Amino acid sequence: MAIQQIRINNLRLIEELEFEPAAGLNLIWGANGSGKTSILEALYLLGRGRSFRKAERDQLVRTGEQSLSLFARTRNGSSTHTLGLIKAKGVTQAKLDGRKVTRMSDLARAVPLTVITPNSHEILERGPQYRRRFLDWGVFHVEPEFRYTFERFARCLKQRNASLRVKGTFDASWDHELIETGNSVNAFRERYYERLSHKIEQLASELLDLRGLNIVWNRGWSEKSDLGQCLEEMRQGDIIAGYTRYGPHRADLSLQIKKQKVEKYASRGQQKMLVAAMHLAQVEIAKEIAGADAIILIDDLPSELDTKNRHKLLDYLKTMGNQTFITGVDNISGGQIEFPGVFHVEQGSISTR
Ligand SMILES: Nc1ncnc2c1ncn2[C@@H]1O[C@H](COP(=O)(O)OP(=O)(O)OP(=O)(O)O)[C@@H](O)[C@H]1O
Ligand SMILES: [Mg+2]
Repeated sequence: MAIQQIRINNLRLIEELEFEPAAGLNLIWGANGSGKTSILEALYLLGRGRSFRKAERDQLVRTGEQSLSLFARTRNGSSTHTLGLIKAKGVTQAKLDGRKVTRMSDLARAVPLTVITPNSHEILERGPQYRRRFLDWGVFHVEPEFRYTFERFARCLKQRNASLRVKGTFDASWDHELIETGNSVNAFRERYYERLSHKIEQLASELLDLRGLNIVWNRGWSEKSDLGQCLEEMRQGDIIAGYTRYGPHRADLSLQIKKQKVEKYASRGQQKMLVAAMHLAQVEIAKEIAGADAIILIDDLPSELDTKNRHKLLDYLKTMGNQTFITGVDNISGGQIEFPGVFHVEQGSISTR
């Protein structure tokens, strides 16, 4: 899948901008504040309906305007599609081939994309929910049933927690469905984890020469008991705590080298390469299993990577062949890596250069 044309209106400093990216590597370069990240944000919005930047609310729409709009023409194999998205205060409306999209996950299925930013390495040290979200992105793109099962599980968990919160109202009738859906969610994740951990380890040794990496899976409750037993054993404690303390909603991944957590062991640059490897591993698995060609967005590539690592990463991306958008302050195209698409951004305007 690749974006052939994109038009952006009233997003941050961009009033109107239109360009036709190349199918492989695209470089978007320009001075600080010229609008590079905003262009990646536009692409991300088309696939996710929201931004990857924090505190996006109200700031995405260009000051003085009521709404922003995006349009893209995409190609997937031999078919072309159109995508449109309008965002006004608190309301997002998207259309795929002229038809209204009611669920953002349908958009995510139509435009699979992943983003790597200068802050992405924080996934290693932040709370488990960030790593679960990362894992679930991958599962979502290879297991068509996952979304529905996960939504059912989340609903049951919410109900169970609500009944645990109010003293004396615990209702065990939710446990049956929670166990059934929780076991499915876990089975989907474990199947995916097997592939993912293998792929990340392989990429880490190729891209970083980082050997002995071990990705440790924690399903969210003891390996010694099944989910039903666990919920039953933990029930009294859950009633006291007022929520469900164990289950797939507590799953986590931990990346370790020589039994030490990677975030404590590896350098900042190595962590960044590793996190890039994690994302690329997911993209490759999505391609292998579901035939989905995800778009890769990399904001501010050089940040803390030396020339050797940058070239390794670019070389790898080039071989992968996925449509990729990379931003940076310098025009790094030429020499070792020629970008098929090079765009210069200046005060919210774009030109081919
Ligand atoms: N709602 C808005 N309306 C108008 N301008 C905005 C709005 N939100 C942000 N901006 C401006 O848009 C620019 C943001 O551009 P962006 O973050 O895309 O730049 P960049 O090229 O990625 O810069 P850097 O190299 O520093 O990362 C900033 O100059 C900012 O002040
Ligand atoms: Mg930026």
